[in-house]
Amino acid sequence: MRALRWRVTVVENYRFPGIPLGWYTVATSKEVRASQIVPVKYFGEELILYRTGSGNVRLTGAYCPHLGAHLGAGKVEGENLRCAFHGFEFGGDGRCVKTAYGKGVPRKAKLSTWPVREHNGYIFAWYHPEGKQPDWEVPVLPGPAEGWTAFSTRALEVNSHPQETSENSVDIGHFVQVHGFGGAWTEGDLEVDGHLLKGAYGIQYPLGSRLRFIAKFRVEVHGLGYSLVRVSIERFGIEINLLVMSSPVDHGKIILRTASSVKQVGVRPLAHIVRSAATWGLNREVGQDAPIWETKRYVEKPILAEGDGPIGEYRRYCKQFYVQEPAKPTQLPVVAA
Ligand code: FES
Ligand SMILES: [Fe+2]
Repeated sequence: MRALRWRVTVVENYRFPGIPLGWYTVATSKEVRASQIVPVKYFGEELILYRTGSGNVRLTGAYCPHLGAHLGAGKVEGENLRCAFHGFEFGGDGRCVKTAYGKGVPRKAKLSTWPVREHNGYIFAWYHPEGKQPDWEVPVLPGPAEGWTAFSTRALEVNSHPQETSENSVDIGHFVQVHGFGGAWTEGDLEVDGHLLKGAYGIQYPLGSRLRFIAKFRVEVHGLGYSLVRVSIERFGIEINLLVMSSPVDHGKIILRTASSVKQVGVRPLAHIVRSAATWGLNREVGQDAPIWETKRYVEKPILAEGDGPIGEYRRYCKQFYVQEPAKPTQLPVVAA
């Protein structure tokens, strides 16, 4: 039998040119209480997340610039982070503000820090490989004060990359095959405005053997770590906000957080029942996607077919989040005869 030849460009041992810049969820707000220190790993680095006495959240490098102690064993003193080894204290900009000796402070002792935001029950950190400051923000969504439920969140560790998981929302072709929806179609063209990509699609859900309903999805990709999906099911007057947030632990692993929030309509428990159903559906879909993400290769130049979603446009959009050029596939040297 003749061996089949790959007709696609598969780049061995290479997936993406590093960690894309952008905003990433590093914890839920509840995971970091006042004066608590939480060691975490993101962006290939050991980090420390802590909340000051007044409630501000900070993200810093995990190792003390003095003699290298891990700050996870330290303590929050008011607005400062105190190292357990020699008692040096670090302020919000990472600078050493005090030593336990009561003498001069070493001016060069400075922890690395990451810009942080907190809203909708999440703590977001800005990652830029060259340490540049953020030039865009992720949206603040309506919460309980605006008549929506809080987000319910699930976190899952997956061997994948944020570009792969975000690509899911434009990959219309897999919706029927992997998730078993009754039908899926795009509505209008993708819109790209700087870091923001917007698209819309419809999905038909079978509900038992006879009933069907249609849900409309408006996707907003705010960088590769934060996708918002606004779902409306007109037939039942339901509006849901779904979040799909991929945070890179290192080059090959992410923490994927999925979340849902529902607009309150009718009696109060109704929105929570809808939220449970949405969470169940989202978790089921991620459970179907994850084994594919974990075992797939990144095909740099896919051969697309009519019926695929706008994958090419999505990939062009993604390029802005990488500082380095994509690595070239390894080529054997050509030896002249
Ligand atoms: S190692 Fe942190 S104060 Fe010395
Ligand atoms: Fe999917």
